[in-house]
Amino acid sequence: MAEEGHRLDPEDWDAFGSQMHALLDQCLSRMQHARDLPWQPKPEDMGARMALDDVASAQDAGQVFDRLTGEIMPYATGNTHPRFFGWVHGTGLPVAVGAEMVAATMNSNCGGRDHGAAEVERAVINWLCQLSGLPETAFGILTTGTSQATILALSAARMRLFGQDIRKKGLKVIPDMAVYIVEGGHSCISKALEVLGHGAQALRTIPVAADGRMDLTALQVAVTRDRAADIVPLAVVGTAGSVNLGVFDPLDQIGAFCQAEDIWFHVDAAFGFWTLLADAPWCDLPKGIGQANSIACDFHKWMSVPYDCGACLISDRDLHRQTFAERPSYLASQSDGLAGGDLWFCDYGLELSRGFRALKVWTTVQACGTDALGASVTDNCRQAALMGQLVEASDVLTLARPVVSNLCCFWPDRGDPGQIAAKLQLQGMAVFSTTLVDGRSCLRAAIVNHRTTQADIKLAVEAAESEVRALG
Ligand SMILES: Cc1ncc(COP(=O)(O)O)c(C=O)c1O
Repeated sequence: MAEEGHRLDPEDWDAFGSQMHALLDQCLSRMQHARDLPWQPKPEDMGARMALDDVASAQDAGQVFDRLTGEIMPYATGNTHPRFFGWVHGTGLPVAVGAEMVAATMNSNCGGRDHGAAEVERAVINWLCQLSGLPETAFGILTTGTSQATILALSAARMRLFGQDIRKKGLKVIPDMAVYIVEGGHSCISKALEVLGHGAQALRTIPVAADGRMDLTALQVAVTRDRAADIVPLAVVGTAGSVNLGVFDPLDQIGAFCQAEDIWFHVDAAFGFWTLLADAPWCDLPKGIGQANSIACDFHKWMSVPYDCGACLISDRDLHRQTFAERPSYLASQSDGLAGGDLWFCDYGLELSRGFRALKVWTTVQACGTDALGASVTDNCRQAALMGQLVEASDVLTLARPVVSNLCCFWPDRGDPGQIAAKLQLQGMAVFSTTLVDGRSCLRAAIVNHRTTQADIKLAVEAAESEVRALG
């Protein structure tokens, strides 16, 4: 066993360097050949093989790396492949592998203190605020994803209404509250209400108007009814890209409504945020997003930044800080040295210890450029439109709803959509997921994949048609 002070670093750095180079080559090769590597099921004995038995003694790092590339890497989710359209899974990027390597090398704790990583995250947040059109008072924080960002945003909404009382005394000093979201809005909102102690019953589901977007008249009725019952409206959630159908609520109208009613306006823009970078007409879909009090969005979806990374933006930076800042003596700031600096991200969220998520974002934006990132978003919207046209022209598939952005849902004329999806996955042909539209199970494609081409869309639709036809 190596001696004190050297126990966990390599004994032979040259040999370790060669092992690392070989590992990097394998990772890059996997990314380069992503098109040839669709999802495949994990071996049945994988659980047993991964068990951490007999780990008292060190194993050669090269042998462990071989297990990473041979026994683990092949059984990924499959979202690196161009015909992966399931759920809303980003695809990843080669340049971000480099950023992740540097972030792991630096091993910065981005909860606080005065070091370079905070400046990188500041730059990312400032860029996001500018892009969304939020006022200069806005700021934010990178999160694990939109689900976490939603908890932060609704916490700030509560802080605005009840001030420090909510932090000190909790729920017993506040009235019942309600949050409003369109039918088909994401479950992360009700989860946030559960975590914040209001319960999922605090969520009001507002029906859609004829255009499939939130019905503002129904919203007004729901708010008036709650106010009459002494229930305080906490927030209205505008959805920028609904998880099932890719529909965008009329954010500008909801923003005006919230301003007139003095209600917090939160936007769930998990993937739809990035239409801001796309060509017309898609860049107009989130019109009004800059009126929001808070926005939640993800980099790990349509920006292809590897998991995990989302963001919470809040239009009032002081309020955001008041919602979370807590500095016991062991976290006190100093005027100089490492405990200095004006920006400690632990003051803006739940995590005290945090990784350097900002680096993979910063690297992606710099190395790809927003022109190409936006073009990829536009490509995906065009591809979803093409899928919609192919489905409409099909004699065995039926389009569930007109395609608005990057989502396409359709019903097979026979067979179980879940089984059809599973067959296509097991063939390594394409990954669709399933959902319900009008209470009927359908195949669903959410295209957030920079590797997809129009040829992939044609192949995937043809494969779905053949599966349906094979059912007789
Ligand atoms: C519209 C919408 N909101 C919220 C979420 C949750 O985001 P996350 O998985 O980053 O927590 C998703 C995930 O697909 C989504 O599509």
